[in-house]
Amino acid sequence: MNVLVIHGPNLNALGTREPQTYGTRSLAEIDAAIAAEAATLGAAVRCVQHNSEGAIVDELHAARGVFDAVILNPGAYTHYAYAIRDAIAAAGLPTVEVHLSNVAGREDFRHVSVVAAVCRGTIAGFGERSYLLALRALVAAPAGGPQAAAN
Ligand code: DQA
Repeated sequence: MNVLVIHGPNLNALGTREPQTYGTRSLAEIDAAIAAEAATLGAAVRCVQHNSEGAIVDELHAARGVFDAVILNPGAYTHYAYAIRDAIAAAGLPTVEVHLSNVAGREDFRHVSVVAAVCRGTIAGFGERSYLLALRALVAAPAGGPQAAAN
């Protein structure tokens, strides 16, 4: 399985950005942990980070026919970026929404996800392990699930 991991805006600042919420590990360290987990699972991963919404949309379009699945942390775009929601649906790849923090336990605006309905599932609140759990979930259950119904 070939998995694309997309980190959204401000996640390039992990390690120094609000460490009480997002931890002290840098994005490079998290990407290394994802690659190590992928190796143990026999999967291949490519990790990218974009601060702009359009770049994430472009990445999702380009993933079609190249990757088998996507792990996406849309950052704050989660809460209002309909173009990313539509790009996930257009790509048609099983996509897991991931968050480092437990967004349900934070400010009200973070309780809304406009991408959740077109994702296979959401994993939030486990720090960098959210990504590793998403990878395991995709390898264990690469197809099917509620995404088909949501689309
Ligand atoms: C986040 C949660 C978002 O609400 C926030 O805007 C982020 C990070 C997370 O991983 O916990 O940038 O997606």
